Amino acid sequence: MRDELEQAGRQALEEISRAKNESELEQVRIRFLGRKGKVTLLLRSLGDLSDEDRPAMGKLANQVKEKIEKSLAQRVQALGSQVREAVPSLDITLPGRKWWTGGLHPLTQATQEIVEIFTSLGFRVATGPEVETEYYNFEALNFPKDHPARDMQDTYYLGDDLLLRTHTSPVQIRVMESQGPPVRVVMPGRVYRNEEINPRSFTVFYQVEGLYVDQHVTFGDLKGVLAAFVERFFGPKTSLRFRPSFFPFTEPSAEVDIGCFICQGKGCRVCKRTGWLEILGAGMVDPAVLEAVNYDPEEVSGYAFGMGVDRISMLRYGIDDIRLFYENDLRFLQQF
Ligand code: DAH
Repeated sequence: MRDELEQAGRQALEEISRAKNESELEQVRIRFLGRKGKVTLLLRSLGDLSDEDRPAMGKLANQVKEKIEKSLAQRVQALGSQVREAVPSLDITLPGRKWWTGGLHPLTQATQEIVEIFTSLGFRVATGPEVETEYYNFEALNFPKDHPARDMQDTYYLGDDLLLRTHTSPVQIRVMESQGPPVRVVMPGRVYRNEEINPRSFTVFYQVEGLYVDQHVTFGDLKGVLAAFVERFFGPKTSLRFRPSFFPFTEPSAEVDIGCFICQGKGCRVCKRTGWLEILGAGMVDPAVLEAVNYDPEEVSGYAFGMGVDRISMLRYGIDDIRLFYENDLRFLQQF
């Protein structure tokens, strides 16, 4: 028994020194110290020995077992430091690396927020092309042939009849052409104007257009839906007023102001001392527009509105230069 124990011990230490990784070491442990391992079986057979032999053999068996355990532990450590030496620059105490994920542009965020408010009020979403024809951008929207907005200085023409749309209102026409009443849609999108570039105006900007046509739609419905929008977008205590205005495609037309949320209507630099901020244009769809899409103005009526996403985002966040939205400076964008 003594020989067997000593031989098992030597064999185990030899195998441990040859093990190349932790799983090989574990195999060695199982072969010697596992439930059916060599040393375990020898320990178990101590009971068969005579009373004189048992204490000495027991002691030896335990020494062998402890030696194997100690050697296993040392080898585990040594393997670990081998890994660390093979990859010396691995400092596992360093903090983890931060993930840089992309974010949505503030104008995309604002557009999504506006669209969500209207879809929750029963509006569907529609989009149209940025390259339009004179017919959709002007003609069908009741712009007279000599209207100044048709002039070359506002509109980017791409050819005789093709242009970059100057507003999202042409999508109204496309939606109504594609279906009969009732329609209730919001139409977000990018628009282009050949304007002087300065802190207040840029050649590209974003709008969200709204349209509701059905039987018995009234100006009161328009006020109700815009009041609900303003409350959700600018906050519950925001006041609202309609000023008479003119657009070729609506009659009557209005410009909508909200009470200046910076000075609470008292008058400040942002609202130019008026206490009010203009946020959108709106009105009742002109019968000529309904006729252009073969809707019967005797049967149905509707309202429309259009807002500049850039403008209301500038108001909401106190941004004083529209060009910041288009420079893609991360120091600006990461604030949103
Ligand atoms: N299309 C107008 C613009 O770009 C905005 C507008 C005003 C849209 C009144 C409308 C509306 O639908 O009813 O300035």
